Amino acid sequence: MSDLLLLGIETTCDETAAAVVRRRDDGTGTILSNIVLSQVEDHAAYGGVVPEIAARAHVEVLDHVIARALKAAGVPLTGLDGIAAAAGPGLIGGVIVGLTSAKALALAAEKPLLAVNHLEAHALTARLTDAVPFPYLLLLASGGHTQLVCVTGVGEYTKLGGTIDDAIGEAFDKTAKMLGLPYPGGPAVERAALKGDASRFALPRPLLGRATPDFSLSGLKTAVRLEALKIAPLSEQDVYDLCASFQAAIVDIVADRVRYALRAMRERGTVPHALVLAGGVGANQAIRRSLHKVAADGGTRLAVPPPELCTDNGAMIAWAGAERLALGLDDGLAVSPRARWPLDEIEGVPETDR
Ligand code: KG4
Ligand code: ZN
Repeated sequence: MSDLLLLGIETTCDETAAAVVRRRDDGTGTILSNIVLSQVEDHAAYGGVVPEIAARAHVEVLDHVIARALKAAGVPLTGLDGIAAAAGPGLIGGVIVGLTSAKALALAAEKPLLAVNHLEAHALTARLTDAVPFPYLLLLASGGHTQLVCVTGVGEYTKLGGTIDDAIGEAFDKTAKMLGLPYPGGPAVERAALKGDASRFALPRPLLGRATPDFSLSGLKTAVRLEALKIAPLSEQDVYDLCASFQAAIVDIVADRVRYALRAMRERGTVPHALVLAGGVGANQAIRRSLHKVAADGGTRLAVPPPELCTDNGAMIAWAGAERLALGLDDGLAVSPRARWPLDEIEGVPETDR
């Protein structure tokens, strides 16, 4: 086989994104273009993503974003080997917009269509940026998902643990909202935490030490609210200190849960080539620093894409499409968008066909 050139389209949440990526025969990749148009301003007044507004915004800009991605890459539609779009999980209106556009392009250009699982795209990004070989331990931490996953191949994901209530990104977003910080909460809390005293508030670290790598974060969020109520009205410094204390608790929880997962993976007889951090929360520097150490202590290394590839983008969709196309997969034009689509329900290549 020769190099593969894929267009990737991402519209599952509040970023309208398209990118062109090359996957070489040896499994390495290059991003030729990566256009991300954030809708943050459209949703900011509501403190969160409004699905109807998101879907309409995707319709308005997606064709321009795709045209810009192709132009920036210097690749005509006819030069592509396949067209990939996120087919879920996510806000269904947006998913329909992206997947339908991809189908139209695939039909017109007579190219294979790759219906990519958004979580799988986050999971595989470190192979594009760091050429990480299988198997690896994945911490997928975004606004809607928090999972520890043993990744043994494209389409081969075994969930070791996950959150039993809020996702990590969601905990950042809710904490930010509670403290009057702007949406999205993650970057705002991280910035505020830099100016705060992490030791001022003693916040809980739920499930710490528990022998299954699960997360529970709603109690932590409630604890922040109770501390804030006790000292209201909040000064700027109070907000900084609450953010720093909250982030320190998250860092401790994540480190502890990942340690357990690394151990659990080894106990199953799988030696990870890396600990991979993926999803929007991967942009957080304090979490990255802590996981570098956890990985080293656990006899492996941390691989984490640059911040702009941790949050939603088209390059990760194009790359996941390329990885699937390289295995001979083609999802066809009849594929349906999916609001819910767990990682372990992805159809890959049966073991016997490899
Ligand atoms: O992967 P992503 O862009 O979208 C989803 O698929 O959810 O992740 C967005 C999430 C949001 O909850 C956002 O607050 C969080 O990632 N996030 C962060 C940071 N940057 C984004 N959380 C903590 N620290 C950050 N620097
Ligand atoms: Zn995402």
